[in-house]
Amino acid sequence: MEPPAPVVIDPAGRDIHAEAARIRANGPVSRIELPGGALAWSITDHELARQSLADHRFSKDPRKHWTDFAEGRIGEDFPLIGWVLMDNLTTSYGPDHTRLRRLTSSAFTPRRVEAMRAGVEKAVADLLDELDSCEPGEVVDLKARFAHPVPARVICDLFGVPAEERAHLLRGGEVNVDTTITPEESAANVEQWHREMQEFIDAKRRNPGDDLTSDLVQAQEEDGSRLTDSELVGTLHLLLATGTEPVMNLLANATRALLTHPAQLALLRSGAVSWSDVIEETLRAEAPVAHLPFRFAVEDIELGGVTIAKGEPVLINFAAVGRDRTVHGESADTFDATRPGKEHLSFGHGVYRCIGMPLARMEAEIALSALFGRFPDLELAVPAEDLAPQVTFIMNGVQALPVRLTPQAR
Ligand code: HEM
Repeated sequence: MEPPAPVVIDPAGRDIHAEAARIRANGPVSRIELPGGALAWSITDHELARQSLADHRFSKDPRKHWTDFAEGRIGEDFPLIGWVLMDNLTTSYGPDHTRLRRLTSSAFTPRRVEAMRAGVEKAVADLLDELDSCEPGEVVDLKARFAHPVPARVICDLFGVPAEERAHLLRGGEVNVDTTITPEESAANVEQWHREMQEFIDAKRRNPGDDLTSDLVQAQEEDGSRLTDSELVGTLHLLLATGTEPVMNLLANATRALLTHPAQLALLRSGAVSWSDVIEETLRAEAPVAHLPFRFAVEDIELGGVTIAKGEPVLINFAAVGRDRTVHGESADTFDATRPGKEHLSFGHGVYRCIGMPLARMEAEIALSALFGRFPDLELAVPAEDLAPQVTFIMNGVQALPVRLTPQAR
């Protein structure tokens, strides 16, 4: 039987859940066509995704294990080239991955994260104070005014990014998740982002501080074999971007879910469900990272009834995995914080699991509880169906989240 035609991915991410359902209808592991025409496999099944995430036969290094890239058929004209040319944990495999992971993960242990609590509370309180000055009934974009700046402040404080450099150092990561940009824009973004990060590192080398960038610079100076210059730049790209973008989406997605499901909000207010329930259910039903990073088969792999050939790229569809009906039943698409289990893989699994998971959960709990506590009348300022999705198929969020914090003056 002919295999089904690959689902052509919408680069604008206009409806990632409907798209995930179409991919799943072709099989638990099925072909997709990426922007630019490259073919990849998408895994939508929870159990197969879990197995693949822990399977060392999948590499993340395109230079060594993506045949079309290594042989020049994928090049500068690939629209997602920014994700391939990065030199960090998301593009490394085996001993290189272990080495980079050891350097960074120690900064995000539960104990270290607990020590960041006061800093997160302060960032949240300051931003809520700024929002307090809004006029009654004024419409505010909560994504721009709260969901983005909370994690941005936290991660930039941690890495010692001066206030005046924050916007442009984070900008490269924001552009990188827009999957509608042209290959030229993507390559230019990578080039500029690399240069700006290098300047930031050079300044830290001259003037170290009590921050994680200075720690990484020092680790490199003590022993150059621990981190190359290119890996230092790539690691900072990754940590500043992942420290901000997915947490922003988690905050915005949870807020949208509560404001569009008043019965769920009432359960939260009555104590019948906890903030942790709301956060885990949001992670399940609206995975903030929808469809990335790349993996590559280092040998032929039989999975879900297909053969993934050596050298072919694979994406785990985290947005689909969280809504797998074999795990969550017929109500998989429904946001329900009372759901037992709430199994998801939205932080990954196995040796590549997100190192920022404890920080992200802590930020979400502090930020969301303080927001809803300070503004009990919080409401959407537009009908839910008018909220435009973020322009990307690899992340899952909204373009903007217009709300009223307080009722309109009479
Ligand atoms: C809600 C927020 C977040 C979500 C949903 C999320 C999700 C993910 C996912 C899906 C992966 C890929 C796992 C894989 O490919 O196997 C990942 C990896 C990673 N995340 Fe997060 N992340 C979040 C927040 C953060 C934060 C706050 C940081 C810290 C700065 C962070 C740092 C990383 C790093 C460094 C990796 C690469 C790990 C590796 O390859 O070993 N993330 N994350």
